[in-house]
Amino acid sequence: MSLAILKALINDVIANKLYVQSFFSTSNTFRIVDLGCSLGPNTFVAMQNVIEAVEHKYQSKGLESKIPEFQVFFNDHVTNDFNTLFTTLPLEKQYFVAGVPGSFHGRLFPEASLYVVHSSYALHWPSKVPTEVLNKDSPAWNKGKIFYTSGSDEVANAFAAQFAEDMENFLNVRAREIMARRMIILIVPSIANGIRRS
Ligand SMILES: C[S@@+](CC[C@H](N)C(=O)[O-])C[C@H]1O[C@@H](n2cnc3c(N)ncnc32)[C@H](O)[C@@H]1O
Repeated sequence: MSLAILKALINDVIANKLYVQSFFSTSNTFRIVDLGCSLGPNTFVAMQNVIEAVEHKYQSKGLESKIPEFQVFFNDHVTNDFNTLFTTLPLEKQYFVAGVPGSFHGRLFPEASLYVVHSSYALHWPSKVPTEVLNKDSPAWNKGKIFYTSGSDEVANAFAAQFAEDMENFLNVRAREIMARRMIILIVPSIANGIRRS
């Protein structure tokens, strides 16, 4: 999907679905996270798109004076190259920045602290290789291969079950971290039913 199409989709969904408030009870900070941000630069474009869409939403409701301050959390594995990310941050950015190392399959934020959760091309990474795929005595043993294209139905089913478990867990932990009536934007590569790809 092109960045232009993504930008239009994000604009549209924020304009039509995001709840915005005209007052902040505790602090005037709009917190956004990009889960699986890598080292840039796509994450900078994505975060800028989200912020501009939120600003437009406030303007369209006549709430220019209420536009909040933005804080962006960049998340990825602890081994991610955060040094490159931080040294290449856009100079003109108008948001506060923090790095959040750790797996998005677990809790990363306090209860009800996030306004927008964004993740692009990252959520298809499972939390682990399904154990039965590694077990020689299991019908789902994948013979040491790291892809399932030529594997049996049992292999494909094991990966599908792992994905379902990971998604349920991911949504449960995010449900605790995101504020009520706010938004999760997930861009996940996918294939049509019945098609297998490595
Ligand atoms: C293909 S890159 C996508 C980067 C960026 N979001 C984009 O759209 O260009 C996927 C990123 O997800 C990260 N990732 C995968 N599993 C993760 C996990 N469980 N927790 C945090 N980051 C993860 C990888 O380390 C990698 O940096």
